[in-house]
Amino acid sequence: MVFAEEKYELGGKAIMLRSANANKNDADMLIDYLKTVTGETRFLMCEPDEVKYTTDDELSFIKEHNESDNALLILVFVDGEYAGNCSFEGKTSSRRTKHRAGIGIALFQRFTGFGLGRLLLEILLREIKEQGYEQAELTVVGGNDRAYHLYESLGFKECGRIPKANKYDDGTYSDDILMALPL
Ligand SMILES: CC(C)(COP(=O)(O)OP(=O)(O)OC[C@H]1O[C@@H](n2cnc3c(N)ncnc32)[C@H](O)[C@@H]1OP(=O)(O)O)[C@@H](O)C(=O)NCCC(=O)NCCS
Repeated sequence: MVFAEEKYELGGKAIMLRSANANKNDADMLIDYLKTVTGETRFLMCEPDEVKYTTDDELSFIKEHNESDNALLILVFVDGEYAGNCSFEGKTSSRRTKHRAGIGIALFQRFTGFGLGRLLLEILLREIKEQGYEQAELTVVGGNDRAYHLYESLGFKECGRIPKANKYDDGTYSDDILMALPL
């Protein structure tokens, strides 16, 4: 799905949302972003040195999202600067699961803490609802209190926990917490 550009104002900053373009510029921007954000927090899916996507991989990822009926990637820009993205993917592997949508979000640290995550998720949930999904789902790493608080305040409820789901290079662990929101 392609997201038609939308503009907002938040804390005196100009916010612009759009889909990614299937060009080298956006593809490389997304790879650099992934390498940076995975190093800024231990709450994302991998270590920065495990981000091995090539420009072509990223171009395919962008095209898949833009051409899919069941997936959406929204980039956010703050005063013209790329700040991060959020996305959803429908669980379309069988008829029994296709009422569910999984979501993800990550911002550069310098763009966190002023309401951007809330704005983005409200818009993403609006889009998911419009597509007819009945439930939004996500996984948040134990200890990610900011994200957990935000999801809870949007109506998500904790519905499960995988203990020690993540093991870090320093030998410590964190849980995965599953959350769901009926729409
Ligand atoms: C998680 C993330 C998307 C949230 O976006 P954000 O723009 O920082 O969040 P917002 O400013 O919209 O809202 C944060 C909320 O958490 C609250 N909060 C901040 N720090 C907190 C903490 N340590 N404990 C509890 N709540 C906290 C804020 O007060 C705010 O709540 P409020 O709106 O009720 O006042 C963003 O911080 C991020 O991308 N982090 C890095 C990657 C990540 O963790 N992604 C999520 C993976 S599941």
